Amino acid sequence: MEITVQIIYASTLGNTEFVVEKIAEYLQKRKVKVALCRAELTDISVVKNNTHFLFGTSTWNHGIINPYFDKLVSEMKNLNLDKKYAGFVGLGDHRYEEVLFCHGIEILEDLFIKRGGKKIGSILKIDGDPFDQVDTVIKDWREDFFLKLKQTYV
Ligand SMILES: Cc1cc2nc3c(=O)[nH]c(=O)nc-3n(C[C@H](O)[C@H](O)[C@H](O)COP(=O)(O)O)c2cc1C
Repeated sequence: MEITVQIIYASTLGNTEFVVEKIAEYLQKRKVKVALCRAELTDISVVKNNTHFLFGTSTWNHGIINPYFDKLVSEMKNLNLDKKYAGFVGLGDHRYEEVLFCHGIEILEDLFIKRGGKKIGSILKIDGDPFDQVDTVIKDWREDFFLKLKQTYV
């Protein structure tokens, strides 16, 4: 069976985009069909019509989700996400906000679960610039995500 993942992300400076692209490259090499979608350009029908997702967002201004995600978040509040699966990637910086570090992605994960969705693994939280974290935390997380993703298809 073909494994397909819709990667929906919000990124202002390109950090989240960089991380989800690194995860997408890894998945594509393992024959996963991947669609990369910027949240602000994504119609809610993408969420309605698919089953497997990777959501990525940065956190801004004391724990708010990246505003590029606002429209989709408000539309997801009315959806039944039963039988849908998602992994979650958050970008943040504890120097801006220690208590609400990466809180944006936690908001999204809470909503997804509240609406009936099932999470794949635990949130990948990246602290600061992601560029030198590809061969460490990002590498470990994407390997684990791929294994758990496959398990949702059996
Ligand atoms: C004004 C400002 C406010 C921020 N607020 C938070 C915050 O509340 N919590 C957090 O974890 N990171 C915070 N950050 C850090 C960003 O989330 C981080 O730089 C992230 O890598 C940006 O990713 P993006 O380029 O994908 O948007 C803030 C950054 C700026 C510039």
